Amino acid sequence: MIHATITGWGEGMPPAILSNADLSTFLDTSDEWITTRTGMKERRVSHVSAIEMATIASSRALACAGLDASQVDLIVYGGCSNEEAVPNSASGVQIALGATHAAAMDINTACTSFLYGLSAAAGMIQSGTVRNAIVIGVELISRYMDWSNRNVAVLFGDGAAAVVLQATDANEGLLGSVLGCDAEARQSLRVRGFGCGYANLGISYGDTIWDFDGQVIFKRAVRGMSEASVRVLAQAGASADDVDLVVPHQANLRIIEAVARYAGIPMEKVMLTVQRYGNMSAATVPVSLVDALKEGRIRAGGLVLLPGFGGGLTYAALLLRWGGRVTPIAQSPVSFPSCTRSALEMVNEIRSGQDPHGRSQRGLMAPVFAESRVTTG
Ligand code: UT7
Repeated sequence: MIHATITGWGEGMPPAILSNADLSTFLDTSDEWITTRTGMKERRVSHVSAIEMATIASSRALACAGLDASQVDLIVYGGCSNEEAVPNSASGVQIALGATHAAAMDINTACTSFLYGLSAAAGMIQSGTVRNAIVIGVELISRYMDWSNRNVAVLFGDGAAAVVLQATDANEGLLGSVLGCDAEARQSLRVRGFGCGYANLGISYGDTIWDFDGQVIFKRAVRGMSEASVRVLAQAGASADDVDLVVPHQANLRIIEAVARYAGIPMEKVMLTVQRYGNMSAATVPVSLVDALKEGRIRAGGLVLLPGFGGGLTYAALLLRWGGRVTPIAQSPVSFPSCTRSALEMVNEIRSGQDPHGRSQRGLMAPVFAESRVTTG
């Protein structure tokens, strides 16, 4: 039987940091409220496009795996921050990497896009369709955030990470996936103004208004992630005690604590990044996975549980048996172009293009049509 295992990992985290204090310069909020309600202290704002962040992460993941871009059969771009609907974003990463033999596919299940993508790519490896895949989780939420709405503006951040998933005969890698969607409450998390449905209303990209019922999402997130975690462990014949590390979606520290309690896993076994990156939607789980590896929190052969939740309302829990290597084979020379503005300056620039109703007054938030400036060749 063919298994699908992670052999490479890399992050593409933009350097500019937006603190809680920065947010309180233009919103009626405070460090105290954000910290006690969410656990968040800071998040990143990107000065480059989502495709560029994804390309940097992918290039690092390839180096980590010791794989050449020409050997990649599939690129899965997970996220909902697409620059354009057509062409898709995965094709932008393909050309920037020079991965000319790779199929290229976008998956949007909001915050769970990386997890759905990892499950789909593993299935394609297990069926023999592809052998080497890159799976990316990436978001550029700062560009379509409604910065006048404190209910959402304090919660999200930009970022990217990618993994290389390869076929192996060894009994390791993805052991199981539980995927689902609590669509009854799909309207509780909705970005209005972002998609074809709005075109005939004269609304363009970036003219967003967020519908966000935090308490409904909170309760359903706890239930979806908890139940999926318990089910995926049962499917694999594993118990909570067998789990070495949980790397959950990081929407709120209180949600993570509730899920760990329900699953019977102590918080010492839970990877937390919410305080330093906020909620990066699809990028959250892979970025946290990369940080866990950097911090030496994943051991060879260890069981890793990945629960997630997001718009849709989609949920997922994946269970991995880590392979034999927890350190990179090589480092990629690719890095971010230098960033000359602070995160707050970038956010204020975006805000100046929005009126109080979230309508853009100039083309600041128009899609980035230029080819990626990041090259890896
Ligand atoms: O990635 C997946 C999607 N996202 C999630 O899973 C998020 C799920 N939801 C949550 O994490 C939480 O519901 C929030 C963090 C969004 C909100 O926390 P909460 O404890 O549910 O607060 P709340 O919505 O009940 O609001 C409490 C108060 C309200 O004031 P009143 O009505 O009590 O006077 C809000 O207006 O806090 C107020 N508030 C704020 N105050 C300061 C809301 N946002 C802010 C803010 N700063 N940024």
